[in-house]
Amino acid sequence: MPKLYIPVLAGTTRDQRKSIFAARLVAEIGNTFDDVEAEVIDPLDYNFPGDGNDPEGKDPRYTAVTERAQGFFIVTPEYNHGYPGSLKRMLDSELKNYIHKPVAFAGVSSGPWGGVRAIEQLVGTVREMGMVSTFTDMNFPKVGQLFDDDGTLQDEAYREHVKAAWTELIWMSKVLKAGRDGEIGGA
Ligand SMILES: Cc1cc2nc3c(=O)[nH]c(=O)nc-3n(C[C@H](O)[C@H](O)[C@H](O)COP(=O)(O)O)c2cc1C
Repeated sequence: MPKLYIPVLAGTTRDQRKSIFAARLVAEIGNTFDDVEAEVIDPLDYNFPGDGNDPEGKDPRYTAVTERAQGFFIVTPEYNHGYPGSLKRMLDSELKNYIHKPVAFAGVSSGPWGGVRAIEQLVGTVREMGMVSTFTDMNFPKVGQLFDDDGTLQDEAYREHVKAAWTELIWMSKVLKAGRDGEIGGA
């Protein structure tokens, strides 16, 4: 079976962002699974003019990423109890390419809750986009202490939590791929 291509969507373009360290770790651990090809998708590398999902508001490179994706892992920081506008803008630029695909979440914050409120807001958004969310969230609280200035993880126990999130996402990706491929009938 070919590898599952699962982009790890980084949630912010902020210059001093720390959540990019979490996104890189999530992708690194994803790539330790034999059946996964994970890649960080950094909104800084893409251009989404305007708003919405009209042709002129898309980035064709992101369109290609979402077409190829068999699942998504979103790594979002928490901004004012929500998720950043740059993540919403990126997500909004596509629609049909998300349908019947799974999504896992990692939340990031400088405080003790690890972005739980940003994840809760995302659940409603991804549901409207046709995605199916996993229940094995990953949380990175106190991100300033969890990673050093070079982005090196300071608590190895987190690797196991990330693996658990991937295990569920991989299972869901295989199940939903079988459904999209017409192997289990119905829709
Ligand atoms: C605009 C803004 C709003 C924030 N709001 C929250 C918040 O509501 N809850 C929280 O725990 N942290 C909040 N923070 C702190 C972030 O959790 C912290 O900046 C963390 O590093 C987020 O990831 P980032 O560095 O990639 O931006 C906020 C940060 C910014 C820049």
